[in-house]
Amino acid sequence: MPDLPNEKSYADGKILQHATDGVGVITFNNPDKRNAMSLEMWEGFGEALTALRDDDAVRVVILRGAGGKAFVSGADISQFEKSRHNAAASEEYARRSVAQRALLADYPKPTIACIQGFCLGGGMQVAMLADIRLAAQGSQFGIPAAKLGIAYGFDGLKHLVSLVGPSWARLLMYTGMRIDSAEALRIGLVERVFPEGELWGETMAIAETISQNAPLAIKAAKITIAQVLKDESARDMGAIKTIGTACMDSADFREGRQAFMEKRKPKFSGR
Ligand code: COA
Repeated sequence: MPDLPNEKSYADGKILQHATDGVGVITFNNPDKRNAMSLEMWEGFGEALTALRDDDAVRVVILRGAGGKAFVSGADISQFEKSRHNAAASEEYARRSVAQRALLADYPKPTIACIQGFCLGGGMQVAMLADIRLAAQGSQFGIPAAKLGIAYGFDGLKHLVSLVGPSWARLLMYTGMRIDSAEALRIGLVERVFPEGELWGETMAIAETISQNAPLAIKAAKITIAQVLKDESARDMGAIKTIGTACMDSADFREGRQAFMEKRKPKFSGR
């Protein structure tokens, strides 16, 4: 993965953030620990997500790991003895990291996890909360909770089950096994796999396509798909109607129609 210029630093440089041409990038940057996530990193991750969410120029956000060996190798186990040693401590620990994951779960812009190397435990949680997962050949995926004695909560498993189905979720959780990119692709855990040297370019190409498309149309798709995944009783059909109306009344819809008729590339403003 290439270094990016002028990255903003969070959590003492262990989380980096960059934005250019409508594409935001957050890098997990603790390669000596295979980008294991400390609480400080979770909080820095939340701050970086918030900054890119509030930057109107940013239309899509890529998540990636530094060092070439890992996306994220899970929570930083060396912090467990002090801050996650029993149920009460675990609850406080979860509170601090869950809030940051909730930001990603409810993120208003499209997100892409760009995965090279190990994607384990909390790394899988992050990747599964992203809208799309693209991976390099040779990556490894797993949730070793059963090897550590950790219980995964509802949200952690909801996404796994919705992506790979209950049987694969059980196989992965009961054994704590790691699977490779080819298997992850086959079971629907990742959407595409590329040779290592092509992953970043392919990820940027998809991000750039998204960033040039109509933001309201993408938002409508994102909101509607999220509602499809909810139980019927919890569904907010009003939210779908609201974004649908905004989209169909938008200047961008007019621009999209005109550009097609004039055989030119549309220029969308998000309004
Ligand atoms: N928490 C804390 N430290 C971690 C870590 C984690 N989740 N994952 C890796 N590290 C540290 C290792 O302790 C090691 O530190 P050291 O250099 O001080 O010994 C360093 O990162 C490199 O790891 P190492 O195991 O030597 O590299 P590897 O390439 O052979 O294996 C992993 C990488 C990720 C497969 C292996 O480190 C691992 O299994 N980590 C734990 C994964 C896990 O259980 N995650 C779920 C947590 S809930």
